[in-house]
Parts: sequence; C-alpha cells; structure tokens
Amino acid sequence: MSPEQLQGWSAQVLTRVESALDEWVPRSAPAGLGDAMRYGVLDGGKRLRALLVEAAAQAVGALETAAGREAALRAACAVELIHAYSLVHDDMPCMDNDVLRRGKPTVHVAFGEAQAMLAGDAMQALAFEVLTPDVGEGAGVPPAMQARLVRLLARASGQSGMAGGQAIDLASVGQALDEATLRDMHRRKTGALLRASVQMGAACAELGSDAPCWQALTDYGHTMGLAFQIVDDVLDATQPSGTLGKTAGKDADANKPTYVSLLGLDGARREADELLAQALAALSRSGLSADATGALAALAHRIVHRDH
Ligand code: IPE
Ligand code: IPE
Ligand code: MG
Ligand code: MG
Ligand code: MG
Repeated sequence: MSPEQLQGWSAQVLTRVESALDEWVPRSAPAGLGDAMRYGVLDGGKRLRALLVEAAAQAVGALETAAGREAALRAACAVELIHAYSLVHDDMPCMDNDVLRRGKPTVHVAFGEAQAMLAGDAMQALAFEVLTPDVGEGAGVPPAMQARLVRLLARASGQSGMAGGQAIDLASVGQALDEATLRDMHRRKTGALLRASVQMGAACAELGSDAPCWQALTDYGHTMGLAFQIVDDVLDATQPSGTLGKTAGKDADANKPTYVSLLGLDGARREADELLAQALAALSRSGLSADATGALAALAHRIVHRDH
C-alpha cells in the first residue's frame, strides 16, 4: 500500500471512528464532565491505535462479517479512549505538567485538575462499556469475543502495561537508565497499548492465540510499540511545538531518560529503523498475503517516519 493509498484508507476508517466516538462519548455527563471528556478525545490525534486495530482486523479477514466490523470499530474506539485518558493524566501537573496537547490547551488547563482526573477516569470506564454492548445493540459481537477484547485492553492498560510504565517513568526522572530498563519502560507505557491494538484487531476474527499468524502479528505490534515511543523521544528533541501540537523539548527539560539521552539522535533513529525492519519481517512470516497486511506495513513506515 503506497502512502497515498494509506491516506485514502485511513480517511475512510477514521470517518467511521470519529462518528462512533461522537455518538458514544456523552454530552450529558453530569456537571460538565461530558464536555471535558469530549474535549479530551474528539477531533484530535493521529488515531494510530485505531488504525492499527482496523488494519489488523482487515489482515485476518475480520471485516468480512458484520459482527467482525462492529467488533473492530468498538475496539478501535475503546483503545483511543484509553489512550486519550492516558494523555489527559500524563499532562497533569502531578505527572508531566504540560499545557499543550493536540494543538489545544490540555484538559486540566481548560477544565481544572479535578475535572481532568475525572474525565480520564470516565474515559477509561467508557472504553470497557464500548467493548461490551448490550444484547441487541450493534451487530451482535459474540460474548466470548467481547470478553477477550476486554482482557487484552485491560492487561495493556494496567500495572503490567501503560500505568506500570508511567510509574517507572515518574520514578526514573534524573536517572540514567540502562537500555534494558529503558526498553522495558517504553514497552509498558506506550508499547503495550499499540501491541494490544494489533491483537484486538486480530481477535475480531476469533483467531485463537495458537493460530500461526497470531504470534507474528503480536511480534509486529510488540516491535512497533517500542519503535513508536523511540520516535516520540526523537520528535520531542527535534520538532517544534507547532508541528507536534504539544510542548517540544519537554524530556530534556524534565530530565527524563529517553532513547535520545541514552543513544543520541542518530542512535535512536537507527534503533527505530531496525525495529521497522523487524516488524516488516514479522508480517512476512505471518503467512498472510502481502495484500492482506498492506495497511499494517504502510502504518509501520508511517509510525517510524512521521514528523509529529
Ligand atoms: C503520544 O501518542 C503519547 C505517547 C504514547 C508517545 P500519540 O503521538 O499517538 O498522540 P496522538 O494521539 O496522536 O495525539
Ligand atoms: C506518554 O509518554 C506515554 C503515555 C502513556 C501517555 P510521553 O510523556 O512521552 O508522551 P507525550 O510526549 O507527553 O505525548
Ligand atoms: Mg509522560
Ligand atoms: Mg508527557
Ligand atoms: Mg514524549
């Protein structure tokens, strides 16, 4: 899939994702909470996690049935809700203390700290609600598939994934981590959710974890998850705030250990390129056709070669 084809495919997918999020994130939550939630999750971000869900679902043929399409759309929205919640909390004064996100003032700047905390909490709960529609809602995602999607997302979000990685991040300020420890932090705080995005897409086809392509897709997600945060570290050090839509140079200012502080810019870029090659190799050994995995391959290139 060429970059132009990826653009067209992404636009189609994201139209559906944006409209589903617009429907599912309530305006009516009490005392202004809905406004803070909608501000934090709608109309923003690259939506790479949603695209990974849909690309993986497409690779395994899940989008050929109505239930598979419904499951993939719900999984794409759920992972974006968890991601948006993690950003709202990541930006709070008790964490990275950022004032700019997705080109706008951060949620706590716009709505206050208590509302930002609650908006994150509510988005996290909503993610799991979206994955478990009532009987008669949507196109009938089988209960076993719902449970599996919930488990994949929960495991990637909690102490063994994102939240645990964020705890390591905060505990590591001012420390020079060795590469193994830094890699572990990045894999948890960011990598886990990207890997789960790919696995959730694959789970929309009732693919067992013993299916030959499951491990290859998992390896792809695991590898791209780490590459994603290495590139985030590089962009923080190289791009202006206007391009990033968030404050540039924060990692060095806050004395955070990153791949740039450990390996230098060139070393970090080389590592990301090496991981890209590994992710593409995982797709090649998946047993799926190059046509089926075209969107995943194009997304891997985009993740490593993006400018924001
Ligand atoms: C930023 O993620 C935070 C990290 C986990 C590195 P993204 O770069 O995907 O942020 P959005 O969703 O596009 O705003
Ligand atoms: C954030 O990492 C990872 C999350 C789980 C949100 P960063 O702190 O580097 O993300 P940015 O640079 O603020 O987007
Ligand atoms: Mg952070
Ligand atoms: Mg941050
Ligand atoms: Mg960053």
